[in-house]
Amino acid sequence: MFDNASKAFFHLLARSGTLKNVAAHYGMRRDTSFARRFIAGETVEEAIAAARSVEAQGLTQTLDYLGESVSSLEAADAATRDYLRVIDAVKTAGIGRNLSLKLTQLGLDVDRASAVDNLRRILDRAEGFFVRLDMESSDYTDRTLTVFETVWQQDYRHVGVVLQADLRRTEQDVDRINALGARIRLVKGAYREPSSVAYPRKADVDATYRKLIEKLLVHGTYPAFATHDEAMIDAARRAAVEHHIGQDRFEFQMLYGIRRDLQNSLVRQGYRVRIYIPFGREWFPYFMRRLGERPANVGFVVKGVLKEK
Ligand code: FDA
Repeated sequence: MFDNASKAFFHLLARSGTLKNVAAHYGMRRDTSFARRFIAGETVEEAIAAARSVEAQGLTQTLDYLGESVSSLEAADAATRDYLRVIDAVKTAGIGRNLSLKLTQLGLDVDRASAVDNLRRILDRAEGFFVRLDMESSDYTDRTLTVFETVWQQDYRHVGVVLQADLRRTEQDVDRINALGARIRLVKGAYREPSSVAYPRKADVDATYRKLIEKLLVHGTYPAFATHDEAMIDAARRAAVEHHIGQDRFEFQMLYGIRRDLQNSLVRQGYRVRIYIPFGREWFPYFMRRLGERPANVGFVVKGVLKEK
């Protein structure tokens, strides 16, 4: 489930340009496609349909227009313009206004200042939205937090970040972001990291996650606990009761297509649950990370491919 070798293997595949092209041409073509369990589709219309169905079940959502690691300013500008169109489509559709995005999609690898400009273009258009900056691998942690702090200091308040419990530095980062009064989404971490920066053992990641739950509930601002791990969810529920923190002062978040039973059961118990809905043509790296988290998913994919044939 949290096996470093499988994470490493799927991260290698995620970087394969050839596989990515094959996947783009083949994987998402039909409703039965194997990637559809985790990705709402390639178009904003499909994402909005998925968002409506999620909202009809009493859940909320955040849309992620997939893309990352662009290598030119033109590609970053194109991704930004795509996001602006997504914002307009969400406004027209009248669904909940919440987006997640990656800074490397906006050009962080090419030029930091341009990435900040692109982010501001998105934040300016996104009135009434909340925009979450996803966290990428540890190479980007500092840069992502610096960009976040830059826009925060410019009075953008409808923006938040993600911090990863597997990184050794994260407790300090939680304090740093809590001090601003900004919102944090806490995750375990989806990237293959060296042990110099991350805990190699799942037990240590889980222990850190639990510790940070407590810290975020007591000192944070509307934290989001993004996990499908029932032990972490129970820990958050218990800590909230212990510290007299109401169900409206935090939320759980889960990925589209994962643990729908748990999503619905939490909603029935009165908790807020937000579903992260990814969509778009650039779905391959995201999909590979999901496979790397749970090798059992490979069986599901193989079955799907055989069925399609
Ligand atoms: P864990 O891996 O221990 O899994 C617990 C249980 O969840 C498993 O037993 C299984 O039942 C289920 N499960 C987990 N992953 C599954 C999968 N792929 N398929 C099927 N079942 C699965 N990471 C990051 O580095 N940066 C980010 O910005 C984000 N953003 C983000 C947003 C949201 C809303 C979520 C839920 C997650 C992320 N993540 C992320 C991913 C996160 O770091 C982590 O990799 C996954 O959530 C899996 O970890 P769990 O906390 O679910 O625990």
